[in-house]
Amino acid sequence: MADRQGVIQVDDSLTDNDSSYGGSDAASETTSLRSNVATYVYENGRRHHSYRAGSYWCPNDEKAQDNLDLFHHIFTLSLDGRLFLAPVCPEPQRVLDLVGTGTGIWTTDFADDFPFASVVAIDLSPIQPPMVPPNLEFQIDDFTAPWTFTPQSFDFIHARSIYGCVAGYGALYAEDSKDLMEQAGFANVTYRTFKWPIGPWPKDPKLKEIGAYNRLDWEEGIERWAMYLFTKCLGWRAEEIQVLIAGIKSELHDKGIHGYQEM
Ligand SMILES: C[S@@+](CC[C@H](N)C(=O)[O-])C[C@H]1O[C@@H](n2cnc3c(N)ncnc32)[C@H](O)[C@@H]1O
Repeated sequence: MADRQGVIQVDDSLTDNDSSYGGSDAASETTSLRSNVATYVYENGRRHHSYRAGSYWCPNDEKAQDNLDLFHHIFTLSLDGRLFLAPVCPEPQRVLDLVGTGTGIWTTDFADDFPFASVVAIDLSPIQPPMVPPNLEFQIDDFTAPWTFTPQSFDFIHARSIYGCVAGYGALYAEDSKDLMEQAGFANVTYRTFKWPIGPWPKDPKLKEIGAYNRLDWEEGIERWAMYLFTKCLGWRAEEIQVLIAGIKSELHDKGIHGYQEM
């Protein structure tokens, strides 16, 4: 159901008093500081990476990490518990989580599931946990820089949530589209999109669950997505953005809006 392009049926049984449309699901704004705080850069109260500072727009603080981990949960729900759909060989030997592993949550699950694979994951931010499976290695690196990996040394390269990470996809592997990937030399390209509702408005139970988690991610993530880009690129003031965010958060709880995003 979730991977179809069809219209998502609305759950008409939701009432105006439904608790899921009452208040905000967002947790406390409180964040805790990490001991290596001095190695980071701060903008508008959010923490950013210092390696190649300014090259990536999203914060990397604990709140941002919680967003990424919640996103991982939604991806897993969307794919019915699978970590990937690609027809990877049953025993991959060398695996790369390329385009920013983030908290490394996908990679850690993958390394657990494939203990005989040697897994490498890279990111600009050193936000990955110290305790990971022995077959997993994190590297702080910029994937847009010339690769130091031996050519064709991986039998599975994974990239997820690369929005806003790549200025020119052509240099990386080609735009996120079937045609351009094929032009870049990929064969058997399969292109699928999934609808993620924003809010628990669908009738379908799986989409309802995805929607509930996704709305929470929006509530908690909207400032992360907007603050850096709107101040740096559009010249907005932080206070103006907070007003915009407040309006969006209110609309996230508007029962009449059946929003979704395509992934
Ligand atoms: C939206 S997060 C996705 C994280 C992870 N792939 C996931 O799905 O949970 C994007 C990540 O890419 C990283 N990133 C952005 N540009 C990068 C670059 N040029 N080189 C390495 N990592 C990069 C960011 O630091 C961030 O952790």
